Amino acid sequence: MAGALLLTLSLILLGWGAEGQGNGHGKNKVSGSSTVYLGQNRHNWRPLINVTFNLSEIASIKSSFEFRTFDPEGLIFYGDTKNGADWFVLSLKEGVPLMQISKEDVLVSVAGTPKLNDGKWHTLEVSNQGKFVILEVDGSNGLVVGMQSKQTEMVIYGKLRLSLGGILIDKEKMIVQFNPQMDGCVRNGNWLNLSIPWETEVDELRPCYANMQPGSYFPGPGFAIFNTSDFQIEEDHGLQIDLWGNFSQMNGTVLNIKDSQEELMFTIVADSNTKEVTLTFGDETISMQSSFNRLLLKFQRHSLGIVQHEDESQMTSISAGSKTSYLTAWREGLLAFGGLLGENEDSAGSQFLTGCLKKIQVQGKDLDLDSAHVKHISVSSHSCPA
Ligand SMILES: *[C@@H]1O[C@H](CO)[C@@H](O)[C@H](O)[C@H]1NC(C)=O
Ligand SMILES: *[C@@H]1O[C@H](CO)[C@@H](O)[C@H](O)[C@H]1NC(C)=O
Ligand SMILES: *[C@@H]1O[C@H](CO)[C@@H](O)[C@H](O)[C@H]1NC(C)=O
Ligand SMILES: *[C@@H]1O[C@H](CO)[C@@H](O)[C@H](O)[C@H]1NC(C)=O
Ligand SMILES: *[C@@H]1O[C@H](CO)[C@@H](O)[C@H](O)[C@H]1NC(C)=O
Ligand SMILES: *[C@@H]1O[C@H](CO)[C@@H](O)[C@H](O)[C@H]1NC(C)=O
Repeated sequence: MAGALLLTLSLILLGWGAEGQGNGHGKNKVSGSSTVYLGQNRHNWRPLINVTFNLSEIASIKSSFEFRTFDPEGLIFYGDTKNGADWFVLSLKEGVPLMQISKEDVLVSVAGTPKLNDGKWHTLEVSNQGKFVILEVDGSNGLVVGMQSKQTEMVIYGKLRLSLGGILIDKEKMIVQFNPQMDGCVRNGNWLNLSIPWETEVDELRPCYANMQPGSYFPGPGFAIFNTSDFQIEEDHGLQIDLWGNFSQMNGTVLNIKDSQEELMFTIVADSNTKEVTLTFGDETISMQSSFNRLLLKFQRHSLGIVQHEDESQMTSISAGSKTSYLTAWREGLLAFGGLLGENEDSAGSQFLTGCLKKIQVQGKDLDLDSAHVKHISVSSHSCPA
């Protein structure tokens, strides 16, 4: 059963690998009511799918769709008229919806309503009623924006453009800046009650997980890289990295640190066959049974503390020798989750991680893979299949 599941997953991954390389025909057509995984977007601000309507055909200024995510921040949908002179952007920031609207001489941003990033499906409806733009969440008014412009002329000619996962204006025009990457899913869209097909550059829309749980998921083809200088450390207090997840279900490189000279400093590899987790640092190697759900690493000036399980009193401490200071190396190094630094997508016998890290903390703070220096498109930052 598990074998069959793995095989299916691998086949899906092979399919994903082909996507985006294009079939030579350029754009593909998809229905606006398709299920769209926004995290499939390779180009941060460019739309994943988009459509252009003739304003003269629009009878209903109302769009609704269902949306599901654990991600607190990212772009959801965009609309404009007059070739981008008037525009609308809906995103999430700190889990709550954020609307930014530019119309004639007015530019507004408004945020509020309960957090949406709870992993449940929510129905969102955006409508334009006279001078008001209204966002309803699960059937009740979430946000209402009233806009009075000196220029009151109604636009009834020209085009209205919509896009999911990207925008068609310069991002600098927005009042509130945010990271567009969204590990979220949109389905059952009804856009202005018009059913003309949308356009996409990808060959096939990637499916969303049927069920999901919070975490960062590495399906196998790639990993995420941080610049260690992104994390502030004080030598006296050392560095703490905390990894949560069922390690017996992981296979491949979980964590890898390199210093500025490209020397391997530290590696954790899980093997789902032998049910072992191996830590390598300097000349030392430690193997342990992978029957744990948490691995806490405390890098001190010349030692490494390892805690498995939740009980921090049971710490194994290892001297790293006097030559190496992890903390010095850390200042200009690289930190990777889910793969070995220097490894690329095509390398044979790749050791990319397959598995779910339920939580990653560096220095006691949750780490968002969306803020990685480089992240492979296959890695989902905030959700694992359940
Ligand atoms: C979609 O957006 C692209 C720009 O990213 C544009 O070239 C294309 O014409 C748009 N397609 C539709 C159907 O609006
Ligand atoms: C929009 O109107 C133009 C002519 O102004 C027409 O060529 C085009 O087919 C219309 N588009 C749709 C989607 O109806
Ligand atoms: C939506 O479109 C359908 C058929 O295209 C039509 O019957 C219905 O009245 C429209 N609803 C609105 C609110 O315009
Ligand atoms: C890491 O960040 C520093 C400072 O921002 C920069 O100089 C360096 O080039 C970065 N390294 C990589 C590999 O991005
Ligand atoms: C971890 O996964 C294994 C294998 O699927 C399972 O037997 C075990 O119960 C899981 N451990 C926990 C704590 O969930
Ligand atoms: C685990 O990864 C190794 C390569 O590191 C690979 O040879 C092996 O087939 C993988 N096992 C599973 C169950 O995926």
